[in-house]
Amino acid sequence: MTEPTSLPVVRTVAALREQVSAWKRQGFTVGFVPTMGALHEGHLTLVREAGRRADRVVASVFVNPTQFAAHEDLGTYPRREAQDAGMLAGAGCHLLFAPTVEEMYPDGFVTAVSVGGPSAGLETDFRPHFFGGVAVVVAKLLNQVQADVAVFGEKDYQQLMVVRRMARDLDIPTEIVGSPTERDGHGLALSSRNAYLGEAELETARRLNGV
Ligand code: PAF
Repeated sequence: MTEPTSLPVVRTVAALREQVSAWKRQGFTVGFVPTMGALHEGHLTLVREAGRRADRVVASVFVNPTQFAAHEDLGTYPRREAQDAGMLAGAGCHLLFAPTVEEMYPDGFVTAVSVGGPSAGLETDFRPHFFGGVAVVVAKLLNQVQADVAVFGEKDYQQLMVVRRMARDLDIPTEIVGSPTERDGHGLALSSRNAYLGEAELETARRLNGV
């Protein structure tokens, strides 16, 4: 795999497909890592894993509104694209897909993707809207990128199971790969939302994790 020096950014599905098609014409395989940005070492591990499995790596940064309930943190979710782009380039990513909300959900968008089975219980008991939003955006992203392989963190294990089921049920040909959870020095799983925690809450989170 070649190391890119700076990271090209595309914001439309058309531009994304143009680049991916060019790579495929050249005989390159393509790996994909979907993210919501505010990247940390856990995301970079996914990018490196994609780089081991494919010749070219695409990452997406899209804070997906359909997986947030009205009372959740869509408005305040950390957004820092320039920093994310630098980190992605350093981890061996070749292209950043950072679409607008309008590109992903144009006026009149009404389609839902509902995954039964692995969506039941756990996260759904607390966030009933969540997997519907994840399934629709991941189905779209996988169709848009058309990668050979896509890498998801095992940290969100139920999400990984939902995505795998959805890709299998919808005959999406991208291989879905899980990658082990990255943890901090105290054993706490790395997460973009850890940025919301103060010292006392971090302590509690570490205790709850038994670390
Ligand atoms: O795990 C995430 O960051 C998101 O749920 C995902 C898979 C990028 C979909 O928005």
